[in-house]
Amino acid sequence: SENQAFSNQIISWYRQNPRDLPWRNTHDPYKIWLSEIILQQTRVAQGMPYYYAFSENYPSVQDLAEAPESEVLRLWQGLGYYSRARNLHFCAKYIWFELKGKFPSTYDELIKLKGVGSYTAAAISSFAFGEVRAVVDGNVFRVLARYFGISTDIASGKGKTEFEALANQLISRDNPGEYNQAIMDFGSRMCVPKNPDCPNCPLKSSCFAFSKNMISDLPVKINK
Ligand code: ADE
Repeated sequence: SENQAFSNQIISWYRQNPRDLPWRNTHDPYKIWLSEIILQQTRVAQGMPYYYAFSENYPSVQDLAEAPESEVLRLWQGLGYYSRARNLHFCAKYIWFELKGKFPSTYDELIKLKGVGSYTAAAISSFAFGEVRAVVDGNVFRVLARYFGISTDIASGKGKTEFEALANQLISRDNPGEYNQAIMDFGSRMCVPKNPDCPNCPLKSSCFAFSKNMISDLPVKINK
């Protein structure tokens, strides 16, 4: 199908342009959760040393659960948005002491955790457990809006619903986690917001925005 052609091209680009990130070499939901919380409001280059510090000091959810909060907050120093660190510690205690260490393993369970929204629940469930759940972040909005020519406001509820539905049709059933990593990377390194290198894009021949010269018009975001 056309959807399959899209996801195959995205995955193929990703395999030819790999980026070795430490949280991509594991299926440990704890490590993936840690990385996604750190990366919520933080760039990869800035988050990397914090990811290493946390995974070395607290290799497991038990280690984080048993750590004093003051120490967790000290390790977080410099990253900002300290509620992320407080939620991380709160959830670690909940998972270790209330759930007896059994990490929530589905999107529906993960999204109940403090600090875990739809993006993060989709990321953890697909990367760690292979659940077919599309991530929808700013990169995904941009790639889909341009490629499919969607002008719905990405800041609206309607837009979120529409893009999420499309993304869940496109996601690879065989490699959902790899597809999710791939489309985010494609958006952050190829289909970038300003001056993307369209002539060298493997998807240009079927990209709506490229063919209509609308790259700078999509996605549409109406500031409220
Ligand atoms: N930003 C948020 N999650 C990410 C991931 N898994 N890899 C790279 N950048 C990210």
